[in-house]
Amino acid sequence: MDIGGRGDWPSDRNGQAPRSPIEMSGLFDSAAEEYDTARPSYPSSVFDELERRAGSLRGQLVLDFAAGTGIASRQLAARGATVVCLDIGEQLLRRARARSPQIPCVLADGHRMPVRQAAADLLTFAQAWHWFDTPRATAEVARVLKPGGYWAAWWNRASAAGERWFDRYEDLLERECPGYTWRRQRDTELEPHWSGALARARGRVEPAGTVVLPWVRHVSAAQWLTDERSKSYVIALEPAVRAAVLGEVAAIIAAQFPDGQLEVRYQTTLIMARKAS
Ligand SMILES: C[S@@+](CC[C@H](N)C(=O)[O-])C[C@H]1O[C@@H](n2cnc3c(N)ncnc32)[C@H](O)[C@@H]1O
Repeated sequence: MDIGGRGDWPSDRNGQAPRSPIEMSGLFDSAAEEYDTARPSYPSSVFDELERRAGSLRGQLVLDFAAGTGIASRQLAARGATVVCLDIGEQLLRRARARSPQIPCVLADGHRMPVRQAAADLLTFAQAWHWFDTPRATAEVARVLKPGGYWAAWWNRASAAGERWFDRYEDLLERECPGYTWRRQRDTELEPHWSGALARARGRVEPAGTVVLPWVRHVSAAQWLTDERSKSYVIALEPAVRAAVLGEVAAIIAAQFPDGQLEVRYQTTLIMARKAS
């Protein structure tokens, strides 16, 4: 498979991205093991919806950007897609390779995709589009997609607002973790504006629908806490603060789920766009 380009590091960041991707990648990279063992995969309804709009994934060339340890990449490959994992986190990609040696991995920045134009059928950003500087990333998406190809971004999130334990848990995160914004952020607000000049110069991309998919996550308390340690806003805390926050999270969930088995309402928001033929 030839997607062209080079998988090397970009040299001209000049701080354009609102959040430094290298810095963030460093954070995720340092928690690659926790990430890999405890983050949930995505409900099959996400891939059903993807296929309903973009057609069968079988045989499609999918570039899974910001692939991390390959959670979504493996699910896409299981549907028959030819998948490439791309990420700026070396340790994350090492995990992805160890788990799925058949899926190629490329160390690459999504703001400068090492891919020739009109190469891919589908570009995916699972739990990741919010890390990108939208004008630059949308321009790259418009360049790299084949005419008629699709962009898809999706996010898992616990959505148990109104349950007392969950509200206490979110209060805690909001109070103690400076980078925690999820409570106030609606995933649908993350839909990019495809009309930006940079993107338009490289082809017309148009929204192709948004869908919110509810599901229930069954997870042990130990897994939940490991998952917590893979969150960027938790990793970024001073060690003593992090330990205290995790201790409080453990106490909240122990009080609510004394048998150590959590059942938590989740939702996954899937946003898609299509490059004009
Ligand atoms: C929350 S993780 C999502 C990982 C994976 N897609 C999943 O579903 O588990 C965010 C990922 O974005 C990656 N990332 C952040 N900025 C990036 C960039 N500019 N280019 C490529 N990857 C980036 C991080 O290294 C991290 O793996």
